[in-house]
Amino acid sequence: MKHPFSDVSAFRRDPLGLFARKGFGASEPLVKLSLGPSPVYFVTDAKTARVVLKSDEADIDKGRLVRKLRKVIGTSSITLSGVQHQQRRAVIHEHLARGIMNEFVPEIAALIRLHASRLVQEREFDAHDVTAPLALRIITSVLFGRGVLSSGDEAALMEAVAVAEAHMADSLFRLFPRSPLRALRDRRRVQASREIMSVIVERVRVRSTSKSLIAAFESLNLTATELRDEILLLLLAGHHTTGNAAAWVLYFLATNPELSEGIRKEYLSLGTKAGEIDPLRLQRAELSLRVARETLRLYPPFYWFSREVKKPMELAGRRLRRGTTLIISPWQIQRDPRNWENPNAFSVERSYNSPAFLPFGLGPRACVGIGLGLLELQLLALEIASACDIEILSAVPASEPTPAVTLLPPCIRLRLRPRSVFAVQREVA
Ligand code: HEM
Repeated sequence: MKHPFSDVSAFRRDPLGLFARKGFGASEPLVKLSLGPSPVYFVTDAKTARVVLKSDEADIDKGRLVRKLRKVIGTSSITLSGVQHQQRRAVIHEHLARGIMNEFVPEIAALIRLHASRLVQEREFDAHDVTAPLALRIITSVLFGRGVLSSGDEAALMEAVAVAEAHMADSLFRLFPRSPLRALRDRRRVQASREIMSVIVERVRVRSTSKSLIAAFESLNLTATELRDEILLLLLAGHHTTGNAAAWVLYFLATNPELSEGIRKEYLSLGTKAGEIDPLRLQRAELSLRVARETLRLYPPFYWFSREVKKPMELAGRRLRRGTTLIISPWQIQRDPRNWENPNAFSVERSYNSPAFLPFGLGPRACVGIGLGLLELQLLALEIASACDIEILSAVPASEPTPAVTLLPPCIRLRLRPRSVFAVQREVA
């Protein structure tokens, strides 16, 4: 009989390796993982994963692993259930749906161009060092209003997020407690990062404009703490995910000159006379959307998430008792050779209507920022490829990502060179 903790060390050390070993070509849709005394199953096939994700929250909901996050990110839509969750989700959804094309496209495009104009002055840069703060600036701007986050707050928030993420990744499946001294030091660091986040979030709240999401949240009469936690969640969920994927978008553009050329042509077909992207034509920008989707297939920022069984049930031929944890990994499903031909290759020729494409989750807890996340990645590809030549200076293929709470990209060193104005003018003519 297997030791009840026998998969813990593999899960902590190399979760991607564990998911690959247990998941690729698995003969059963539910594979038992030994991650503690209570039952845990790894959901290895896309069909069963979809059933789990689409379940009613009375049957299957977020569970104990998500509750662990509360210590760091507090209580907000991602950790709440029931009516409270639905109300908050509806408010965020409405705000995003209203602005997604008309207001957000020019705003996001302008922020990307601003960053690009600074980057062409640099000799070289690390992709994620640039895309993470850019994503943070975009999410703050579109949700809370332009200029509400100062560059000092931006840097401090990034730092605090890194501390919180390292702590969360370490504590999710820790087998043995840390030494008392180490535990105390860690607690203090997390507490300090939480306080920094709170101060910044409070500044964001005070500075936000009347049209922002904060005004919309006021209709729900949230307490100051609830509002702070909700803003924090949106800042974290909205930038850490997109920022990670965006680094890979730049990598794929830099390493596929033909692709960059294709995106450049697409950009020219979308432009207004003033040289801006026409939001209404963006829906036809098939190639840049494919780049965004293929990047999320290979490097889904949330590379695993979990659910908990709320009442005894049968799933994929197994009896599951209440409290059973189900782990789903978009990374495994999106790279399983059963679901994708040549799964590790970057190819924009694939169909993303596949049931095995789940970077945003699915069902009642699916990402509420899908449209915005895709839009950011698509605009990044369009704006950067059209204005610059992207050169890769670090090794190709890039190193593997680091699986923390999200999938962190490796160091990808790039250089941007502005494209000649004359070349662009010739192309337009
Ligand atoms: C490429 C970018 C993004 C990816 C890949 C992504 C992925 C995900 C995934 C997989 C989940 C569901 C986790 C689960 O089922 O347990 C989720 C939830 C969530 N995401 Fe995103 N996300 C992205 C961008 C964003 C953005 C821009 C926002 C900001 C509005 C956002 C806000 C949220 C929120 C609030 C939730 C919780 C939804 C709920 O529980 O009802 N995400 N995201």
